[in-house]
Amino acid sequence: MQPDSPVRVVETRAALRAAVAELRADGAEIGFVPTMGALHEGHLSLVRIAKERGARAVASIFVNPAQFAAHEDLDNYPRTLPGDLAALADLGCDLVYVPSAVEMYPEGFATSVAMRGVAAGLESEARPHFFGGVATVVLKLLNQVRPDFAVFGEKDYQQLLVVRQLVRDFDLGIEIVGGPTAREADGLAMSSRNVKLSPEGRDVAGKINGVLAFMVERLEAGESVESALAFAVDALSMAGVDAIDYVEVRCAETLEPLDPGPLDREARVLAAVRVGGVRLIDNMGATPAE
Ligand code: PAF
Repeated sequence: MQPDSPVRVVETRAALRAAVAELRADGAEIGFVPTMGALHEGHLSLVRIAKERGARAVASIFVNPAQFAAHEDLDNYPRTLPGDLAALADLGCDLVYVPSAVEMYPEGFATSVAMRGVAAGLESEARPHFFGGVATVVLKLLNQVRPDFAVFGEKDYQQLLVVRQLVRDFDLGIEIVGGPTAREADGLAMSSRNVKLSPEGRDVAGKINGVLAFMVERLEAGESVESALAFAVDALSMAGVDAIDYVEVRCAETLEPLDPGPLDREARVLAAVRVGGVRLIDNMGATPAE
């Protein structure tokens, strides 16, 4: 229970259904923002998008065990519920759904979503379990909330495309809105992992977005994909990252690899790197030269 919560909180599917029906009573749209809590400006900007569209904003906070592998330490995932609820209240969020693990995965739960296509490669190389867990919980959350639209951050670009695919494949009829990546003053993409960086690691992390932005500039000026990639590998290494899980230029819509040579369609540059034991991801859009 959240007796002193500054924002309306529900913890069960039944209470959620009733509260969402009330919010809809005067014909308002419902905009949904699923989160795992530990909220930062990146999450809050997604709630703001829902409010700016004139919708009633419903957020969820659920640390989803299904998207963690055994070695990924679910128990140490940051949990900051009182602060999260206060931040959501300040934004005028209309409802927060905070289900328990048993509410989401009751005894006997036996079904999960397996995805190919946009879910293959990139994040799935390092985290093969991840998108199955995300797709399963997002399908459940979308069915439970039944919003008109849901907002997902572009920071997790592959996840955004996975969710769009899921909604298409299961005929959910819910609009999926992408929210621009929120960035620190030096351009570092906001992430709940940033707090784990040492001061030295934080300096290195602040250079990643500059490398991607320069890659985009080069691609948009007509440089070949292979040359922009070679530049990025060198520049990330010189910036001081410990390891590059991937740096790629992919089709922005399907995430398929692109042909060598200059861009022939809208593309996305995506990178995952390790800095002082912290895995960081970022991405940016690139448009072919005229
Ligand atoms: O991006 C996240 O925080 C999670 O993957 C999501 C979409 C809330 C599903 O658990």
